[in-house]
Amino acid sequence: MYDDSYLCMPKHQGDILMYRIMILAAVMAMCVTASAQNEGENGMQTENRALVVYFSATGTTAGVARMIADVTGGKLYGIVPQQAYTAGDLDWNDRQSRSSVEMNNPQARPAMKGSCADTEACNVVFIGYPIWWNQAPRIINTFIENHDLKGKTIVPFATSGGSGIAGSVKELRNTYPDLEWTEGRLLNGTGRNAIRDWVNDIYRNIIWK
Ligand SMILES: Cc1cc2nc3c(=O)[nH]c(=O)nc-3n(C[C@H](O)[C@H](O)[C@H](O)COP(=O)(O)O)c2cc1C
Repeated sequence: MYDDSYLCMPKHQGDILMYRIMILAAVMAMCVTASAQNEGENGMQTENRALVVYFSATGTTAGVARMIADVTGGKLYGIVPQQAYTAGDLDWNDRQSRSSVEMNNPQARPAMKGSCADTEACNVVFIGYPIWWNQAPRIINTFIENHDLKGKTIVPFATSGGSGIAGSVKELRNTYPDLEWTEGRLLNGTGRNAIRDWVNDIYRNIIWK
């Protein structure tokens, strides 16, 4: 007699069947997990395909965007400037800094890098940004002007040092009156549960209406 317990292969047919059942069960479990992740909470994505677009210079808005994507099961798309913003570029005390110069010029359209977002399959587009001088950074205009957002519900969201979002949404609405804007929301320090409630309200009151 010899000890073959170190062998990974099953020794007879019964073992082989059991082996196959176990593999099948593992594959099915992986499929169920993947589809649940894709669907988002409350099965939202089955009826509403969300795209969550954001620009974030220092990471705050990015964190909120990730939570919205999680809750909706939507795709996440980060707007990446062709030229990254340095700390000096973001210095609002310097009238000559890049951000000051861009925000003083309504026509400024900083270039984006990377491929475009796939907007075709979605009907709801969340657009997030940090408030800069009470407005959306100009690269948000670059994104909007380079994508076909007609017929989609657009939901702005923002983070800030305290300013509200209303001024920036008014400006975007005036600049792009053909798009379907919702009033949007400032999400400073907002937790996951509050974001889920807000998203549920939007779907109930605006999108499913
Ligand atoms: C150039 C610049 C201008 C800003 N202007 C405002 C403003 O007008 N009101 C405000 O409350 N916060 C303002 N902030 C603060 C940002 O909105 C805030 O820190 C935001 O959460 C940063 O988001 P992010 O980390 O995603 O870039 C400004 C920040 C920068 C860099």
